[in-house]
Amino acid sequence: MSDVELRVAATAAEAQREAAELLAESARRGGHIALSGGGTPRPAYEGAARLAPDWSGVEVWWADERCVPPDDERSNYRLVRESLLDRLDRKPLMEHRVLGELSPAEAADAYDAELRDVVFDLALLGIGPDGHTASLFPNDPALDELGRRAAAVPRPDVARVTATIPQLNASETVLFLIVGEEKADAVARSFSAPPDPATPAGLVRSVSGRTIVLLDRAAAARLPN
Ligand code: 6PG
Repeated sequence: MSDVELRVAATAAEAQREAAELLAESARRGGHIALSGGGTPRPAYEGAARLAPDWSGVEVWWADERCVPPDDERSNYRLVRESLLDRLDRKPLMEHRVLGELSPAEAADAYDAELRDVVFDLALLGIGPDGHTASLFPNDPALDELGRRAAAVPRPDVARVTATIPQLNASETVLFLIVGEEKADAVARSFSAPPDPATPAGLVRSVSGRTIVLLDRAAAARLPN
């Protein structure tokens, strides 16, 4: 696996600005870009739309999605539509939305088929305080889905569909964007400890490309110096 490129910014805003620049560069090159939900990437998506308003060479994918309709406030599609897609001058060539309105199994099977032979040029990921990334949660059976590209993930709140570890690790560039002191422990477990299914983000690395980790100082606080 490729080494990890750790970049620590002084502030969350600086980390998000750098992510926006990397997203914009990737959009200008064109190709397959997979995006995540959550609150951290929103400013990066807004910034990328300002820096690169033409995504006509891009096919947009989701690293994960909640099994809800696309206009649901929990939808990652809605997050990306509001913070990026609606702000572009030229829309993506394709928006591969996870069909969250279907059953989790149907949505996962459809996405798995759609992802056949697709390699992400860039996959932007976050990390939860528990070390999850996309919807790959600690010790979850989805971590063992090595023959699929997408899998359904039952959850107490709402079921999800997630890209699998093989799909994410095949990416040319895996770009983690992580800010906040509440992530510091998960960051240390993910990037300075042996791979462990208890911390799924530590299992996600680009196999043949780059793994870039953009952090603010607070999220990097427990990394070894
Ligand atoms: C989701 C995301 C999820 C996110 C982490 C971190 O569906 O919520 O895909 O994996 O990246 O939960 O979210 P924050 O960066 O907002 O803390």
